[in-house]
Amino acid sequence: MSIAYLNGSFLPLEEARISPLDRGFLFGDGIYEVIPYYGGKPVGLAPHMQRMADGLAAIEIKCNKSIEDWRVLLDDLIAKNADQGANLGVYIHVSRGADTKRYHAYPENVEPTIFAFAFPIKDPEPVDRTKAHGYAVSSTQDLRWKRCNIKSTALLGNVMHYQQGHASGHGEILLYNENNELTEASSSNAFIVKDGKVITPIQDHQNLPGITRRIIIDSLKADGSIPVEERTVTMDEVRNADEIWITSSSKEIAPVIELDGKPVGNGEIGQVWENAFRIYTERKFDF
Ligand code: PDD
Repeated sequence: MSIAYLNGSFLPLEEARISPLDRGFLFGDGIYEVIPYYGGKPVGLAPHMQRMADGLAAIEIKCNKSIEDWRVLLDDLIAKNADQGANLGVYIHVSRGADTKRYHAYPENVEPTIFAFAFPIKDPEPVDRTKAHGYAVSSTQDLRWKRCNIKSTALLGNVMHYQQGHASGHGEILLYNENNELTEASSSNAFIVKDGKVITPIQDHQNLPGITRRIIIDSLKADGSIPVEERTVTMDEVRNADEIWITSSSKEIAPVIELDGKPVGNGEIGQVWENAFRIYTERKFDF
């Protein structure tokens, strides 16, 4: 049975209730996180909760939980959900809370709604390019808002883009801006590989500061065997890349083998993916 956390209590997920006047429900006025736990161990708990604190500060929601408070709460949630499997994702959602009316301005003296639940996630892919799952993706112009760095619960722009890819049989959709530059994907960050170098768009208002992205960059730099660069990436470069990866807390580093119906590189999962995924896998619990 899935046990959730809501405003200070643990309870069965299906019994969790919030007010329809909650601003998370009415306006998407909240911040969320998704953290993977493998065998009870989190990947990037501190940077995830720091990103949540940054997002809450950006939209002026006061939630006085330290990273240590979150660690204790989430360890408890994971322990209470152990019967769901060894690998669990945790979804955390802090909304501005429920006012007595629907009114756009931030209300005063409203307590944030704090919600979390755990759900089973897949085992990590094997570190073997001949056995891992390769994604077929499409691409489209990024039509979301100009604050994609905020991990807002208002995900309709992302949902519509994801659905666009899903409806045409694709597992993800790459997004590019009006200058034909890669931003990210609808629910992931994106990387390319060219001539042995790993390249990903710089972090700005056009993309989420992905924790998996950060762990990959920092792990590759610490290891030193694969060059990595953060810079503008054009869609022409994406279409001519040797490899494309999409990254997120649920996908880790996922290799893309087809873009808009055409093979990426030679159409097989690349050797740089395997090398980078090994480095990531060895270091991911250090963050
Ligand atoms: N998605 N970009 C977008 C738009 C995302 O939604 C996500 C994550 C990422 C990757 O971020 P991270 O590496 O911190 O998971 C990038 C989550 C998992 C989701 O919405 O379910």
